[in-house]
Amino acid sequence: MKTFILLGTLLLGTPLHAAQLNLELGEYSRTWQTEELLKHPQVLTINIPNDVSYKRDMSYRAVPLAALLSDVKSDDHLQAVASDGFAAELPAGPLLNTQGARAWLAIEDPANPWPPLSEGKHSAGPFYLVWTDPRAGNISPEQWPFELASIKRLAPVAERFPTLLPDPALKADDPVNKGFALFQKNCLACHRLNGAGDSQFGPDLNIPYNPTEYFGADFLKRYIRDPQSLRQWPQAKMPGFSAEVLPDEDLGMLVGYLKHMVGRKVKP
Ligand code: HEC
Repeated sequence: MKTFILLGTLLLGTPLHAAQLNLELGEYSRTWQTEELLKHPQVLTINIPNDVSYKRDMSYRAVPLAALLSDVKSDDHLQAVASDGFAAELPAGPLLNTQGARAWLAIEDPANPWPPLSEGKHSAGPFYLVWTDPRAGNISPEQWPFELASIKRLAPVAERFPTLLPDPALKADDPVNKGFALFQKNCLACHRLNGAGDSQFGPDLNIPYNPTEYFGADFLKRYIRDPQSLRQWPQAKMPGFSAEVLPDEDLGMLVGYLKHMVGRKVKP
């Protein structure tokens, strides 16, 4: 019997298994299985022109994310965690939109698997957060987490990680505070700073050294725009941030926040 199963696996390739998504929403926590989600009363086929991860037009079976976020309020804070350690920090507000930029949970049907993200890699499944009309909400590529394993309701970043905070004496509209917001939206999904953050994907950006201390002249900005234009190797994982995603002025404020944090290092 075992030999037959083994043979079947060898002949058909590794079968794609149904998966589960954990929603950690306190009292409203629950686990969804792939099959349950594919039978959800609000499941639809949606078309995503120029999908952020596949870089081409895609179509998915998907459920409006808002339909799954029982009891979540627009000022709550959510974190979407992928199986590879990527942890996107997502203010709940935009995820609950029912018009304009709308968030959807795309569900990979094991009977109809998605293509790999690139040769030899996994697909974006089993679950992938996609947006219809993302421009209407200024949604950045880091707000499209793929290979999703769980979505958690947490306290906001500034409360969970006070060592990320700029000097509290700064005014709310100080460019450094704007840079901090841009850092949370674009970088914290992969990087820690001052040892704070939930991701382990990229290096810490303040300890032991902050990149503003060792990238001369404009090299840091060039790195953020296109990391592989400075250093190249096949396993490099950091994506580039185009001027469309991060306009020059925003990039300046983001680097301003990083510079500011040199003066606020935590002691090891
Ligand atoms: C998808 C994950 C991801 C995101 C998002 C990301 N990075 Fe990175 N970053 C990495 C990884 C991984 C590395 C290590 C080099 C590599 O594999 O490309 C890296 C390397 C770096 C480095 C080089 C550090 C060194 O000394 O070599 C800097 C600087 C940096 N990132 C800054 C940023 C900033 C600023 C942002 C936000 C605008 C950002 N990163 C967003 C994953 C990411």
